[in-house]
Amino acid sequence: MMLRAVAESESDTNLTDRRAAWQARALDGDTRHLLARDADAFLHQSVSTPCLNGIAKAEGIWIEDVAGRRYMDFHGNNVHHIGYGHPRVKRAIAEQMDSLPFAPRRYACRPALELAEKLAAIAPGTLSKVLFTTGGSDAIEVAVKLARTATGRHKTLSFWDAFHGAGFGASALSGEVLFRSGPAAPLVAGAMQVAPFGGYRCPYGTASPQESGAACARMIDYVLSHDTDVACFVAEPTRAVPYLPPQGFWAEVRRICDRHGVLLIFDEIPTGLGKTGRMFACDHDGVAPDILVLGKALGGGILPIAAVIARPELDLGGAWAFGHYTHEKNPVTTRAALETIAVIEDEDLAGNAARVGTAALARMEDMKARHPAIGDVRGRGLVLGIELVRDRDTKEPDGDLAEAVLYRCLDAGLSFKTTMGNVLTLTPPLVVTESEMMGALAIIDAAIAAG
Ligand SMILES: Cc1ncc(COP(=O)(O)O)c(C=O)c1O
Repeated sequence: MMLRAVAESESDTNLTDRRAAWQARALDGDTRHLLARDADAFLHQSVSTPCLNGIAKAEGIWIEDVAGRRYMDFHGNNVHHIGYGHPRVKRAIAEQMDSLPFAPRRYACRPALELAEKLAAIAPGTLSKVLFTTGGSDAIEVAVKLARTATGRHKTLSFWDAFHGAGFGASALSGEVLFRSGPAAPLVAGAMQVAPFGGYRCPYGTASPQESGAACARMIDYVLSHDTDVACFVAEPTRAVPYLPPQGFWAEVRRICDRHGVLLIFDEIPTGLGKTGRMFACDHDGVAPDILVLGKALGGGILPIAAVIARPELDLGGAWAFGHYTHEKNPVTTRAALETIAVIEDEDLAGNAARVGTAALARMEDMKARHPAIGDVRGRGLVLGIELVRDRDTKEPDGDLAEAVLYRCLDAGLSFKTTMGNVLTLTPPLVVTESEMMGALAIIDAAIAAG
C-alpha cells in the first residue's frame, strides 16, 4: 500500500533527493553497508529509519561517525544538556548499579525518593508530587489522566503543530500531521487543537508577536467558553521549534484556564532543566502550571527517564493505577537524573545557556542583516532558529535552501535539524562555549552564503 506524503514537521524528513545525494557523496562503503543492514532490521518511519549516517562515539558536544568524522551536535534530541557521557553521571550510574540495580515497584528506594524531593524543591510554584515514567510520551499521558481525575472532565486542548509524544494519547494531543493522521488514526477522542501564536508567521493573520499572542489567547478563551468538558490545556511554554511566547501570554492563558476550571500542563520535555537559560522555560513567563512534565535530558543523555510534577492538591487518584510503569522507581535512572541536576547546578549550565544564547542571537541578527534569505532569527537560551525564505516580503519558506545548508554544514562538521522544512533549528548542549557557538554560526553563515 502506498501512503501519501505528509506535511513538514518538527524534524527533517529522511527520504529526500538531497539526502540521497549527500549520502552517495559523503558516506564510505562500510557506512553504507551499516545503513543498509539497519534499514533491513528496523521498521521504517519518517524522521528516523532509514538513517542519515552511522554513529560510533558521543562525547561532550561532539558525535563521531563510523568513518571517524566529528560533528558538533546542535541537535542531540535535546537530551545532551550536560554533554554526552558526563563523567560524574557515568560514575554515579556505575556506583548505583553496584549497590542497588533495580527496585520492584512495591519498595521505596533512596535515589527515586531523593530525585522526587529534588524536583519538588526546584519546580515552580507549589508543584511537589511526582511520578516517573520511562519516556516523555508516557509522562504526558499520566499528566492528562491526573487532570481528568481532578476535573471529572475528559477533553484536552493543545496547539496545532506541537509534538507531545508518540503514544495514542500523546499523539492525539500533538498537532503534527505526521503523528496524528494517516494510518495511526483514530487516536483518543476529545483531543482538540487551537492554532498557536507565532511572531513571524501568525496563523491568526496578525502583524506582531503581541497581537498574535492576544489573538491566540482569545481563541483559547473562546473554545473553553464553548466546551465545558475540557480537563486541561497542554503546551510547551517555549516551543522547541522555536517559537517564543509574547510577553504576558502565559499569564493571560493562566487566568483563562483558572476562569474555566481547566488545568494548565506545561510540557518542558525538551526545554526544562536550563535549556532556555532558566531552569524551566516557564520561569521566563513567571507562570507556574498545575502540572509540569520533564524528560529527555533528565537522564543525563544516557538513560531514559521522564517525570510528572503536580500540585499536591492533584494527588487524588490513589485508588487507581495510572502511572504503573515497570521503571517507576528505578534506582539507576533516578540516580542518573539526580546527578544530572547536580551537574547543571554546579556548572551553572542554565547561566551558560543564557550567556551563549544571547551572544548567538546577536551574531544571528548580524547574519540576517547580510543574508536576504534569512527571514527571521529567534531564540531563548540555547533553543535557536534561523528561518530561511525565498522572499522576505512574501515570507515564502525556502525548504530547499534549508536542506542544502544542512548538508553543507554536515560536510563542515556541524549537525543540526531543520524544522517545518525551512527553519534551521539549533539546540546545542548547555556545555557549549561561546567560541564553539561562534564557530558553528560561522559554518552556517558560509553555508547560506553559498546560496
Ligand atoms: C515537546 C515534546 N514533548 C514530548 C516528547 C516525547 O518524549 P519521548 O520521545 O521521550 O516520548 C518530545 C520528544 O521529542 C517533545 O519534544
